[in-house]
Amino acid sequence: MNIQHNISLKEYNTFGINAKARFFCEVKTISGLEQALQLKEYTNKFILGGGSNMLITKDIEDLVLYINIKGISIVKEDENYVTLKVMAGENWHNMILWTLEQNYGGLENMSLIPGNTGTAPIQNIGAYGVELKDCFESCEAMEIVSQEIKEFTKDDCNFGYRDSFFKNKGKGKYIITSVTFKLTKKNHVLNTSYGAIEEELHKNNIEKPTIKDISNAVIAIRNRKLPNPKELGNSGSFFKNPVINKELYSLFIKKNSDAPFYKISKNEYKIPAGWLIEQCGYKGKRYGDAGVHNNQALVLVNYGNASGKEIIDLAYKIKQSVYLKFGITINPEVNIIK
Ligand code: EPU
Repeated sequence: MNIQHNISLKEYNTFGINAKARFFCEVKTISGLEQALQLKEYTNKFILGGGSNMLITKDIEDLVLYINIKGISIVKEDENYVTLKVMAGENWHNMILWTLEQNYGGLENMSLIPGNTGTAPIQNIGAYGVELKDCFESCEAMEIVSQEIKEFTKDDCNFGYRDSFFKNKGKGKYIITSVTFKLTKKNHVLNTSYGAIEEELHKNNIEKPTIKDISNAVIAIRNRKLPNPKELGNSGSFFKNPVINKELYSLFIKKNSDAPFYKISKNEYKIPAGWLIEQCGYKGKRYGDAGVHNNQALVLVNYGNASGKEIIDLAYKIKQSVYLKFGITINPEVNIIK
């Protein structure tokens, strides 16, 4: 096992936070992962995937295991469907581009989401009307204490909005090693219900879109609204969109009749946190190197050398302002490493 010392994590987290790993080990195989977990001299291990949904606020003293296990294989196939097993270290977007080249449909609306495939189920990533769970068949994960590989079905994963078993009961207990998807080979089910996609297709005079057209539309929309982490450090949406009950919603909408909202059940309404944050005047604001993105208030950005602490302080200030103005609590979607 090659254990490196005092490695900067700046290139390993999309926020570009320059924290250090005291001990760092790149894992490329399942047996390598098993061996690394058996290293008794490092009691605690810190699991690092694509680093796209975390805010590191200090140096990491535990052994950092960088999961870089690659590979895509076909498990099953018939005329209509293909079942694909994707190893955890495969970059999410590159994997989608590969599926589109084969004309496999299902993941196109989630194009350009940063990060690796293995971490996608943890928070059930989603965008433009589709969530990971819609194409998910199962995943395999190594139990940290026993190093046994276990299979999790969709039901086992208990997916919710940016939520799963791995964020709750399974937290800190498993490392996802592969994800299996069921994708269409023909009669693709296109999801163009999201207004922005429809507009984009219309603008380009595309009447009968292919899955590739949808992916291209999503890429164009994301590039306009969301900063590219290679150019400006960020972790996508920093906060989750809050879900409020009918009573709070009635009070809220009386005072803010122009607010966007989605009714998600008889008694629950989701309010876009980006709108709430913009109303509090934070859109495009910058404090040192920590800021709120110009085009999407839900995204916090690192202009270069912001520390995790500076980003957290800004997030806390925003959370307080939103609560004071609207009486609504917003919580981070990003995993904060304290
Ligand atoms: N809005 C504003 N100001 C802003 C941002 C948004 O007024 O600064 C308003 C928009 O006008 C719109 C509403 O808020 O009426 C919703 O905005 P948008 O469609 O951009 O989506 P979102 O709720 O901000 C969610 C996901 C994104 C995903 C998009 C598209 C969460 C936390 N975020 O954002 O996911 O790409 O929908 O499906 O659910 C991510 O998780 O990292 C992420 C980018």
